[in-house]
Amino acid sequence: MSNELSNVRVHYLDTVSSTNDVAKKCALAGEEEGLVIVAENQTHGKGRWGRRWQSPKGGLWFTILLRPPSLEHLGLISLAAGIASVRTIECFGVSVNLKWPNDIIFDGRKLGGILIEGGTQGDSYYALVGIGINLNIPKDAFSEDIRETATSLLELTSCIIPKDSFLNTLLGHFFKLYKSILSGQTNNLLEEYRRACSSIGKKVRVETLQGTIDGTVVGIAHDGALLLDICEGLTRKIQCGEVTSLRGRTVA
Ligand code: BTN
Repeated sequence: MSNELSNVRVHYLDTVSSTNDVAKKCALAGEEEGLVIVAENQTHGKGRWGRRWQSPKGGLWFTILLRPPSLEHLGLISLAAGIASVRTIECFGVSVNLKWPNDIIFDGRKLGGILIEGGTQGDSYYALVGIGINLNIPKDAFSEDIRETATSLLELTSCIIPKDSFLNTLLGHFFKLYKSILSGQTNNLLEEYRRACSSIGKKVRVETLQGTIDGTVVGIAHDGALLLDICEGLTRKIQCGEVTSLRGRTVA
């Protein structure tokens, strides 16, 4: 595979509980950065905030193992995963945007999601970048409760997209962006992210571990955090939270 990290190793598995869990085991067993775990099926796919991630057959479910020099990079790694996904989806003629930090949204409906987990191992760090793209999934494969809020590339394009070429394209974009993060060259990533992010300029409610905050999204900080104007120019920086638009649809 041609990409920016020479030792990318893609392991294809059939059924796993969650690709993040498999990648975590590999990390703890000492696997090097660049391992990618892909599964056809996940029995216990994990979403953000402890939610379940529906993983019907036909989707692209995978996790990239990284060993960043510091967990401070996690915010930017998360934006890079979102941008790599957007670029790849756009190759197939579908224009999407990102709800901060990285929900992949088409016309208010969720086309994919990203779960980043970080941990320490001795005196070093690992990061698990779990990406789920609703690729070749027929609408009726989603359970009824999310059928109207989720979508898939099959539904949008009526085409079956080859998983391996989609994955290779996405990994190529991702590792290039990851390399730029490690070398401190993040301006282009942040500019591209700000253009792709539908949350900017919106009045939103953000659920954080410390409580709920309402405000207007005024930007994205240099480390990937959300900048929220909470009261006439008073800005709060939010590293981690769940954003809901206070106008219009709930997932936009
Ligand atoms: C979200 O939007 O809530 C994040 C969803 C992340 C889903 C992917 S699928 C591959 C990887 N393995 C998991 O269990 N979750 C992530």
